[in-house]
Amino acid sequence: MSKIKPIGVFDSGYGGLTVLKEIVKALPDYDFVYLGDNARTPYGTRSFDVVYEYTLEAVKRLFEMDCHLVILACNTASAKALRNIQQKDLPLIAPDRRVLGVIRPSIEAAAEMTNNGHVGVLGTNGTVSSESYPVELQKWSEGKVKVTTQQACPMWVPIVENNEIGTPGANYFVEKNIRQLFDSDSEIDSLILGCTHYPLLIDSIRDFLPNQSIKIIEQGKIVAGKLQDYLQRHPEIDANCTKNGTIQYFTTEQPELFDSRAQQFLEEEIKSIKMHF
Ligand code: DGL
Repeated sequence: MSKIKPIGVFDSGYGGLTVLKEIVKALPDYDFVYLGDNARTPYGTRSFDVVYEYTLEAVKRLFEMDCHLVILACNTASAKALRNIQQKDLPLIAPDRRVLGVIRPSIEAAAEMTNNGHVGVLGTNGTVSSESYPVELQKWSEGKVKVTTQQACPMWVPIVENNEIGTPGANYFVEKNIRQLFDSDSEIDSLILGCTHYPLLIDSIRDFLPNQSIKIIEQGKIVAGKLQDYLQRHPEIDANCTKNGTIQYFTTEQPELFDSRAQQFLEEEIKSIKMHF
């Protein structure tokens, strides 16, 4: 068998599995390596410098594993580290390799979906305070579409991580943050779930939306579709992604714990390997 050159998918923990799942559905023949930095999660509450340092470390490890293309499935890492990595680090350490994030594909989808130009974003504190979504959307749509409101939802990741989805306590926080978002702009017609974990809360989110015609942008499918398109447009990168249909999972925490929790995200059994930084 030829040497495997997988596509790397990185997240601060489990959440990126929601993105990996959709990417694998779209590109079943490709090889993948998933790396979850569970030992240092969450990233959503950390500073720019720390998120950048951790993310760069992970990207370098994935490069060592012969990944020529790395997807930062984590919104916080995409918001706080991607630009530096693309502009400062890649030209020095790996000019022929690529690191892509989840924000650009999401804002492209939002710009296509919105009818009235009012887009809302839900994310971690880190993603919201980075202003990445408003800035990117403004730039990409040349000011035609705006992220009119962002809402940080600091309790949502712990709700998912602790398997409290759908409980009265969890619903209290989902309702509260959705209400805060729509109190700031009642005209939002498209909503970006700007965090890897939020798709798991989709039923509760829908329950609390002021009307059911609001479009929800779930990143997994969007990122998967855009990646497929990217590989078609970049045959030189595609040539460095092998296609044997394998997936390997790495975690910086306990593999047994990762395997049991990963089932919640993937709905299938997996076996992960411990990675030491
Ligand atoms: N993966 C992170 C994100 O998408 C959420 C979890 C964390 O805070 O590390 O922003």
